[in-house]
Amino acid sequence: MNRRRRVYEGKAKILYEGPEPGTLVQHFKDDATAFNNKKHDRIEGKGVLNNRISEFLFQKLGDIGVPTHFIKRLNMREQLIREVEIIPLEVVVRNVAAGSLATRLGLEEGTVLPRSIVEFYYKNDQLGDPLVTEEHITAFSWSNPQEIDDIMSLVLRINDFLSGLFLGVGIRLVDFKCEFGRLWENDQMRIVLADEISPDCCRLWDVETKNKLDKDRFRRDMGGLVEAYQEVARRLGLHVDNPTRVRSGPVLVRSK
Ligand code: TMP
Repeated sequence: MNRRRRVYEGKAKILYEGPEPGTLVQHFKDDATAFNNKKHDRIEGKGVLNNRISEFLFQKLGDIGVPTHFIKRLNMREQLIREVEIIPLEVVVRNVAAGSLATRLGLEEGTVLPRSIVEFYYKNDQLGDPLVTEEHITAFSWSNPQEIDDIMSLVLRINDFLSGLFLGVGIRLVDFKCEFGRLWENDQMRIVLADEISPDCCRLWDVETKNKLDKDRFRRDMGGLVEAYQEVARRLGLHVDNPTRVRSGPVLVRSK
């Protein structure tokens, strides 16, 4: 039985109290949702793959000086993170038209954008995470101009770095969503990358075949999601053995 105090449960992750003050344990579930939870399923192995891929990307971003909440991976489904105050914005960067941008502006999916476009969505499930502008963000004090500047420069660095990293393994980073938090150290506050970066919140297309290696496989009922995530992990040089056999709950250990 899990006796840890559950701090928060989202659609794909659970946050537990960490071993020390100011830390949390981020647990990746196998749940997949789309269209604000209207579509929901459990896809065995997804959480294990996202945990591993997100760990790898956060570590690489940390290596180039992007501050993140990540401390270390604890096991196949969990990582130790710093507790931050999440800014209630989903920050999306787009390099190629797809998804809601293609629909909203009538662009053909796959059109390369004239430059990378950053969008903000207000994190609110009841409202379906609406698109908002800096005017809304500052007027309603979800964030302030200084933080927005910090987020903009961080997210563009993240985009450049990840675009190059994925291109090196034959994958186009079409777009991605990320979240930021306020990390307090003594009296100082800084903005850090939080949440996760995984095929759940990116669009990743094979450069040659344009094959989708991300959660659109679930959103669009294409099947083969775990195989696609496994392919992303494999190309990044990560070895995730049998992700579908790592269960969430207690595992029965047989004595010989
Ligand atoms: P969109 O085209 O549906 O607006 O999605 C843009 C990117 O953001 C895409 O990579 C998927 C990701 N995303 C999330 O991570 N969570 C969400 O709730 C939504 C709507 C999109």
